[in-house]
Amino acid sequence: MFLTLEGPEGSGKSTQCKLLAEHLTSLGHNVLLTREPGGTEISQQVRQIIMDMKNKSMFPATEFLLFSSARAQLVREKIRPHLNAGGIVICDRYFDSSVAYQGYGHGLPLDSIRAITAFATDNLIPDLTLLLDIDPERGLRRRRSNNEEWNRLDDYELAFHRRVRDGFFELVKAAPERWRVINADKNVEELQEEIRGIVEKQIKAGK
Ligand code: TYD
Repeated sequence: MFLTLEGPEGSGKSTQCKLLAEHLTSLGHNVLLTREPGGTEISQQVRQIIMDMKNKSMFPATEFLLFSSARAQLVREKIRPHLNAGGIVICDRYFDSSVAYQGYGHGLPLDSIRAITAFATDNLIPDLTLLLDIDPERGLRRRRSNNEEWNRLDDYELAFHRRVRDGFFELVKAAPERWRVINADKNVEELQEEIRGIVEKQIKAGK
């Protein structure tokens, strides 16, 4: 099963991914936890370029192609082989982030994003995607107060982050069978309980 988690900044995705991976591993599943951009040595190097605060002059098109190249490597080097071996893959962000951030956030043409994404991922679509939803203002405040790393993308204006959130909802509307929307404005344990419930149900359903 290929599971992805998406959401605006500060939704607590990374913590939730980690807890979920530990839980599913303890149940005996063979779990690969990975993240975007990153997850392989090459993708991690691309991540540095994308996030670097000194790269303020990067164009959205460049940004999107870098995300796509990091993704192409991750799919081929890690995700596909793990799925082929019968394992569960949990990915902290995937191509839906490109549609939401580079498409709805920056206004890049969605049809180009879709075409390049299909090529980059070799048409690999998640079985299930959880949207951990939070108001962007609240999410960014959470991120600042947790002293998390502040990167070039966090620095985009609030209106950008609002468009990103709306973009995620457009994606949910377009493919509701793949998505579950979860209100992430609750404590870590409660949120994890809700996520486990959804994922375990999906595993039982044999997806
Ligand atoms: P990261 O530090 O991993 O943050 P988060 O915990 O929010 O996932 O930073 C990833 C950033 O990159 C985040 O701002 C979302 C953005 N992003 C895109 O803009 N497009 C993409 O395709 C991906 C995967 C991420």
